[in-house]
Amino acid sequence: MVCTDIDEHAAEATAAGLSARARAARLDVTDAAAVQAAVDDVVARVGRLDLMFNNAGIVWGGDTERLTLDQWNAIIDVNLRGVVHGVAAAYPQMLRQGHGHIVNTASMAGLSAAGQITSYVATKHAVVGLSLALRTEAVPRGVGVTVVCPAAVETPILDKGAVGGFVGRDYFLQNQGGRAYDADRLARDTLRAIERNKAILVKPAVAHAQWLFARLTPTLMNRLAMRFVAGQRSRQTLGEASGHPRSG
Ligand SMILES: NC(=O)c1ccc[n+]([C@@H]2O[C@H](COP(=O)([O-])OP(=O)(O)OC[C@H]3O[C@@H](n4cnc5c(N)ncnc54)[C@H](O)[C@@H]3O)[C@@H](O)[C@H]2O)c1
Repeated sequence: MVCTDIDEHAAEATAAGLSARARAARLDVTDAAAVQAAVDDVVARVGRLDLMFNNAGIVWGGDTERLTLDQWNAIIDVNLRGVVHGVAAAYPQMLRQGHGHIVNTASMAGLSAAGQITSYVATKHAVVGLSLALRTEAVPRGVGVTVVCPAAVETPILDKGAVGGFVGRDYFLQNQGGRAYDADRLARDTLRAIERNKAILVKPAVAHAQWLFARLTPTLMNRLAMRFVAGQRSRQTLGEASGHPRSG
């Protein structure tokens, strides 16, 4: 088992929490050749690749007009191209061996659309589409594909990527009764989803219900999202005007 991250310490911490046999390595998922080399290394060591988790992600939160093109490109490179690189490296090997499972981490933001995380929503919708389409080719040939779509999970990303007065933790928790889902619990849910070869994993249950509702009434959901974003913007404007940006 190999855990990779652009942040070597994060990779080491994840590996240490998993198993004494787990290895850690620094890997930038925007580097296609490096992703391929990491997959080739596993296959050279153990002769096969059972699971591939394409999980790296970044977020920019704030009014879209404040985003630079460099920020747009960075989020597309990590959240979308990173998954593409992982699939391009792992899928042919899994087809050759006749088994394997690819798990792509998208988000509830890949199934719904609210502003102020517009670039994130765009990349996560793309990951959902990529995963569901790939699955229709892959499953008949012995390879599973699951896309993981959680609402807020208690991880450091909730406090990253703020542009302007945006406070990610506030934004992401507003719709969740103020609580983020537990990351270990999501990991267990994901393993069960792999066993069952589920197409989409949506957690927690309230997010699953929201997703079903959104499919029934997309126009109403868009109106509610508009109201939600307006509320967030006015809170942020107040925070910026008082000189005390809101914090989690
Ligand atoms: N935490 C949430 O609320 C939540 C909800 C839905 C989806 N997600 C998704 O879950 C995934 C994991 O995020 P997390 O919540 O653990 O946040 P996190 O910030 O703790 O982890 C993301 C990791 O990606 C790594 N990374 C960033 N750029 C990279 C690159 N170029 N190459 C390799 N690694 C890179 C970071 O170093 C970091 O360790 C992401 O795709 C995120 O979008 C998170």
